Amino acid sequence: MERLLIKNIGMLATPEGREARRGQEQGRIRILKNAWILAEDGLIRALGEGEAPVPGSGQGEDGACGAEVIDAQGCLVTPGLVDAHTHLIFGGWRQYEMEQKLKGVPYLEILASGGGILSTVRATKAASEDELYDKAKLALDEMLSFGTTTCEAKSGYGLDEETELRMLRAIKRLNEDHPIDLVPTFLGAHALPPEFKDDREAFISLLCDKVIPEVAGQGLAEYCDVFCESGVFTAEETRRILLAGQKHGLRSKVHADEIEAIGGSQLAGEIGAVSAEHLIVCPDEGIESMAKGGTVACLLPATSFYLGATFAPARKMIEAGVPVAMATDFNPGSCPCLNMQLVINLGCLRYRLTPEEVLTAVTLNGAAACGRAASRGSIEPGKLCDLVIWDAPDLNYICYRLGSNLAKQVIKTGKPV
Ligand code: NIG
Ligand code: FE
Repeated sequence: MERLLIKNIGMLATPEGREARRGQEQGRIRILKNAWILAEDGLIRALGEGEAPVPGSGQGEDGACGAEVIDAQGCLVTPGLVDAHTHLIFGGWRQYEMEQKLKGVPYLEILASGGGILSTVRATKAASEDELYDKAKLALDEMLSFGTTTCEAKSGYGLDEETELRMLRAIKRLNEDHPIDLVPTFLGAHALPPEFKDDREAFISLLCDKVIPEVAGQGLAEYCDVFCESGVFTAEETRRILLAGQKHGLRSKVHADEIEAIGGSQLAGEIGAVSAEHLIVCPDEGIESMAKGGTVACLLPATSFYLGATFAPARKMIEAGVPVAMATDFNPGSCPCLNMQLVINLGCLRYRLTPEEVLTAVTLNGAAACGRAASRGSIEPGKLCDLVIWDAPDLNYICYRLGSNLAKQVIKTGKPV
């Protein structure tokens, strides 16, 4: 049996539970001072305040003999961060769009002229599975160094069956090989491919009748997502695609209300989507629908920052009983950022959430947004021992400091990485 004891934790901060926390519960977390955590075979076995069980002595409630010991030196420990929205796999980058962006050309206009997502689609089609794998592996290494231990990963830069499957296979291999656990999402409806520009119907039918069954049949995705946006896919098209996904066992996510509100968040609640994402311009009816449907709002504040957009109405969502998660949206266009610590800063400074609400958003609620709340997202017996030991004395400190990597030691499944 492999055992790990983390002792001398100055502050242990964690949400609790095995599902998303909403309303006032989002800000209720457990704080232990002078704490310890004992893990066995990758799972949290016990935790407490005060004297830690002494390895080798059989002391403590179950004796911690033979445990590897990490001294947290009085630092903050939280659950590993869950990045519940990333476009992890793609070819190339888009730094050449900087000039257009600085001139004020809108995101959707760059896309409509064949750039944006479509230019990444060209680069992704040209990349082999190994090239996609190698590039994403570097991104995962960096995410891990910032404290991310689980991350959702979307396809969506292939748009054709072959490239989408290649992207999803790369995700599957990375999930097997890399310490970060991945949750695969099929986002075949990320843009209308140019070859279908005069026949949207044919593309949507192809997705529903051919590609979704294939992806689901091969077990390559758990979720189906659609970019529901003005000039991309309408709410009705989104409904059709997501329901086809559900029919084949793929749970729903929606890119909703990112730039224009065209009904994505309302739809998310209606069809029981697990999460709706972005929600920058989410209307009240969308918030109501998500509250009713039990949909997690997965907010992406670094994208608002990067697009120079407004920030999602996070406080309103919490007040309405919608669980709020936060993620990076890592992608080559609207947010080339791998760092959940920036997301933590923006959650406090721009959404005006409390440090406690933010912690829940980037751990337990992030886990709920990708169906993993039963196994991770909090420090409790029986959950995976995924932790971050921070170069910080308390929770406020990681919300307050900006621009440094404060993750001192990341633990994944009971192992220092
Ligand atoms: O979540 N909005 C759609 N998808 C991404 C951006 C993709 C891109 O620009 O490459 C997003 O922001
Ligand atoms: Fe996205």
